[in-house]
Amino acid sequence: METTLHSMDNAAMPRHEFFRLVGTSIGVILLTRCMAGCSGKGNADPTPNTSQKIDFTLRLDDKLNANLLVKGGYVIANDVIVAQTKDGKFVAVSANCTHQGTELVYKSVENQFYCPLHLSRFDTTGKVIVGPATLPLTQYTVESSVTAGTVRVYN
Ligand code: FES
Repeated sequence: METTLHSMDNAAMPRHEFFRLVGTSIGVILLTRCMAGCSGKGNADPTPNTSQKIDFTLRLDDKLNANLLVKGGYVIANDVIVAQTKDGKFVAVSANCTHQGTELVYKSVENQFYCPLHLSRFDTTGKVIVGPATLPLTQYTVESSVTAGTVRVYN
């Protein structure tokens, strides 16, 4: 059996064709990622359900909650974002932005909850500081016990 090798000279691609294909590929990748990112965390109705009963306790010796041991750290549990402020105070609000439901992050430097999608900002009581969100987050009561090593969140 004989193997034939073809010259690579015939395989050369014009530069403009190369850039057109690369540009199309990058466009498809970016569009796919954007669509996945926009639909993955979004909530069809991000309005906080203030009548929903919330009552749970986070154990601080659980690795999943280790961020709460650090001033400025936060965790998200049961659709609630719980943070320890720089002052060592625990705060908790609903974890999804009231604009389109994106999961929030806590920024300790500003002591605010921040939406990474359209950049709304909320204070630690859930009040809107910067839109496009217009509705506040739901604020929860937090009780921490150093001796028990727990943080209880409830309304
Ligand atoms: S989803 Fe948060 S500002 Fe739009």
